[in-house]
Amino acid sequence: MKTLREYIKEADEKGVAIGHFNISNLEALHGIYNAAKSLDLPVIIGVSEGEEAFVGTEVAVAMVKAIRETDNYPIFLNADHHYSFEGVKKAIDAGFDSVIIDAVKLPYEENVALTKKCVDYAREISEKTGRDILVEAELGFIGQSSKVLDEVPEGVSEETMTKPEEAKAFVDATGVDLLAPSVGNVHGIVTSGNPRLHPERVKQIREAAGVPLVLHGGSGTMDDDFVACIGEGIDIVHINTEIRVAYRDAIKKFLNENPNEVAPYKFLAPGVEAVEEVVKKRLKLFNKM
Ligand code: 13P
Repeated sequence: MKTLREYIKEADEKGVAIGHFNISNLEALHGIYNAAKSLDLPVIIGVSEGEEAFVGTEVAVAMVKAIRETDNYPIFLNADHHYSFEGVKKAIDAGFDSVIIDAVKLPYEENVALTKKCVDYAREISEKTGRDILVEAELGFIGQSSKVLDEVPEGVSEETMTKPEEAKAFVDATGVDLLAPSVGNVHGIVTSGNPRLHPERVKQIREAAGVPLVLHGGSGTMDDDFVACIGEGIDIVHINTEIRVAYRDAIKKFLNENPNEVAPYKFLAPGVEAVEEVVKKRLKLFNKM
């Protein structure tokens, strides 16, 4: 099977993007996997620090590995938005395929130092084990919560978007494999409308930084904006809030209609189907299908 790095390179060459979808439990994993498999596409499962704590670090690795090995399927596990070296190390040691060190809130020099420390550790373990662990970092603020928001989070604006020369300096100083820029994207669904993305800025950052780019905060983004940015160098897109909302709403509807149902495999099944539907729709768009 190809490595995640090879799948990303392939997506880059084809002008498509790999979908990255977050989970908090086994049901969401089933929904995402069913969708990816039905379209025969590689897929990345993400767990943030909070999601990882709820699922269990080793359990997350075991679930994804079981699918990958039993079905010989390209499904990968990413430690999404980890804020400390200890958190990153724990995920790497447990067997994650990639990690995101998110140190955007630190002063720049400290962000660089922490990110570099994570890259060095990933390289050391990759060398020792023969794995190819990827490290991603974020540059530029895009908010923090995968939830439904009334308005664009404070601190996100066109002025705070990532600058191409900053992206280049950061990648040169840290050696990260992937970069998540701020290009108009925000975490969460903004009820009054998500901001528009800036494909031209994506292109400039991709050229300057020289590494594949990852679009975070995919939920609520307009289809045309996705397509334009994927064409300019976005190779992975993250979706979380849309999955959370679909899962919650489907289960809520089922339980409202069937208040006496107590079998979790029955009342959670509509949640799995709802996740599958969202993921399929997004994967088709990201892969020009
Ligand atoms: P959304 O919740 O906006 O889809 O963002 C998800 C994300 O970027 C996770 O890293």
